[in-house]
Amino acid sequence: MRKKIVAGNWKMNCLQEEGQKLTSEIVNMIKDEPTADVTVVLNPPYVHLHAVNKLIAGVDRLHLGGQNCSDQASGAYTGEISASMLASFGASYVIIGHSERRQYFNETNELLTAKTRQALDNGLQPIFCCGEPLEIREAGTHEAYVKEQLTASLFNFSEEELKKIVIAYEPIWAIGTGKTASSDQAQDMHAAIRKHLAGKYGDAAANEISILYGGSCKPDNAKEIFSKTDVDGGLIGGASLKSRDFVAIIQSF
Ligand code: G3P
Repeated sequence: MRKKIVAGNWKMNCLQEEGQKLTSEIVNMIKDEPTADVTVVLNPPYVHLHAVNKLIAGVDRLHLGGQNCSDQASGAYTGEISASMLASFGASYVIIGHSERRQYFNETNELLTAKTRQALDNGLQPIFCCGEPLEIREAGTHEAYVKEQLTASLFNFSEEELKKIVIAYEPIWAIGTGKTASSDQAQDMHAAIRKHLAGKYGDAAANEISILYGGSCKPDNAKEIFSKTDVDGGLIGGASLKSRDFVAIIQSF
């Protein structure tokens, strides 16, 4: 049975006190909360990792994740953070290949393969992002576009390694825009992703992979999106910065 996961990508937000307040509110809201079968991941900026890890301790379904990691193990890479450093601060997940990193930091499929390797080698579960820009969606070539992203990066890994990877489909045109993919659009792409994985790794392996939706997921649309067969949760941006909204999304299953 594949995991249901809701991950909160804080992006470059929250000063020290804000991050601690947000985390404490979330902990207090979900620590005794019924939907215990939903794995919750908080992906704060690096500077929050130590404090957030301490605050979530003892709440088994709450996990810590990074928003990125280096493709290198260690060394003279000023400003970079390694997968092993994330793990040493309590992280068990890391977002790889978010569209904002692909766009603003020129992250290629090859670089993302190396980053995914670093994450797996250091015991982190990659949350591997894929998704098309608006012009590709409008051209109707979005499935081919996303399949190529996965083929170029993830198909370098074994079946056993793939099973440790979470995929996040984030249509770029829905990120931060308030324009959400419809639940049918999400289901169609998630099903296409799962079929593509099955073509390489077989149905059994493909059915074990959690595929999350990201892109203006909010309390008022999460229930419909999460109800779809091949949607296993969400990668949440803006709404993850509001404790009530984030918890409402977690409770949407
Ligand atoms: O990584 C999740 C993010 O890209 C989605 O952002 O603000 O549309 O939920 P948002």
